[in-house]
Amino acid sequence: MMFIIRVIGGLIMTDNNLKSFYETYKDFFQVGACVEPVHLKFYREILKKHFNSLTAENRMKPIHLQPEEGEFNFEPADEIVRFAKENNKKVRGHTLVWHNQTPEWFFKNEKDGQVGRQSLLSRMEKHIQQVVNHFQDDIYCWDVVNEAIEDEENSGLFRDSKWLKIVGEDFVDQAFKYTARVSSKIKLFYNDYNAVDSGKRDRIFTMLKNMKERGVPLDGMGIQGHWNINWPSLEDIKKAIEKYASLGLDIHITELDMSMFEFGDKRKLKEPTAEMLDKQYHRYRDIFELFREYSSEISNVTLWGIADDNTWLDNFPIKNRKNWPLLFDINHRSKRVLIDIIKDVDKRDL
Ligand code: GLA
Repeated sequence: MMFIIRVIGGLIMTDNNLKSFYETYKDFFQVGACVEPVHLKFYREILKKHFNSLTAENRMKPIHLQPEEGEFNFEPADEIVRFAKENNKKVRGHTLVWHNQTPEWFFKNEKDGQVGRQSLLSRMEKHIQQVVNHFQDDIYCWDVVNEAIEDEENSGLFRDSKWLKIVGEDFVDQAFKYTARVSSKIKLFYNDYNAVDSGKRDRIFTMLKNMKERGVPLDGMGIQGHWNINWPSLEDIKKAIEKYASLGLDIHITELDMSMFEFGDKRKLKEPTAEMLDKQYHRYRDIFELFREYSSEISNVTLWGIADDNTWLDNFPIKNRKNWPLLFDINHRSKRVLIDIIKDVDKRDL
C-alpha cells in the first residue's frame, strides 16, 4: 500500500490522520458523494471515512430502473443502498421524473406513435409507486423532478420536453402528488442546475412558489452546484439560498463540483495551472464557509464524484478533456483545500 507523507505547517500530515470530513460537519449538514456500484469497492475507505450520504450517480434513474415497461432492475441500486445501510450512510434518491435518461417507451404508443396524456401520467404514477415502494425508508428523500425549468429568458417557464408536450405544465405537480401518496415520510425535492443564476433562479422560484400556493407537497430545493473556479459569485449563491429558503424549503446542494474551466473554455491541459489551483483552493474554502453560515437552511452538501480520477467533467462539455473538480486528487489523496476546510471548522470550535 502506498504511504504518502506531506508536511503542512511544520506538521507531518497523512490522509490517515486527517479528520473525517463528515464528522467535522456533523453539526451543520450531511456530506455526500455520488457513486456507481463499482465505486463502493474502489473508493471504499474514503467513502466510509469521509461521507455520510450517498446518491446513485445513475442507477436510480428511470432508464436503469425500468428499461422496458414493467421490467424493473433494482440490483445495482440495491447494492448502493446495502452499502449505505451497513455503513450507516443516508441515501438521497435521484431521480424519478426527468427529460433525460428516461427510456423512450414511456412516451410511445404501439399504435400511433406518441402516447396520450392519461397514459403517460399513468406510466409516471406506476414508475413512482414501484420505485418509491421498493426502497421504502432506506431512501429518505427523492429528487422527484429533475431540471424542468427553461434555461433562457423569454421561452416560458418550463423546459421543452416530452413530459411538458404530452402532459402539460402540471406534470411536475402530478409527480410530487404521486410520490407523496406512496409515502408521507419521504422528503420531496425539486432539483436543477444553474439554480443560482438570477434569471433561472427566479423562474424556479416562481414554479416552486406556485406549487406551494396550490398545496403541492414539496419539502426541498436541490441546488446542483455544477460550478467553476470563476462562477457563480458568492453573492448569487447566497441570494439563491435565501430566496428558496424563504418558501420554507430545506436546501440541499446536490451535485457540487468545481470545474477548472469556464463553460466556453475549450483548452485541454495536462495539468491545472497554478492560477487555476489557487482559485479552486480559495473558492472551495469560501463556498464551504458560506454553506456553514447558511447551515440552518442547508441540510446536505453532496459532491458529484469522489476523486479527480473519475468525474463526468472529463467528458463534458468537451469529450476527453481532463478536469480536476473534486476535493480528492487523481491519487485519492485529500487536496490541501479539504485539509483546510476541515481545519476551518475545527478552529471555530476552539
Ligand atoms: C445532471 C443530473 C445528474 C448527472 C449530471 C451529469 O446534473 O442531475 O444526474 O447526470 O447531470 O453527470
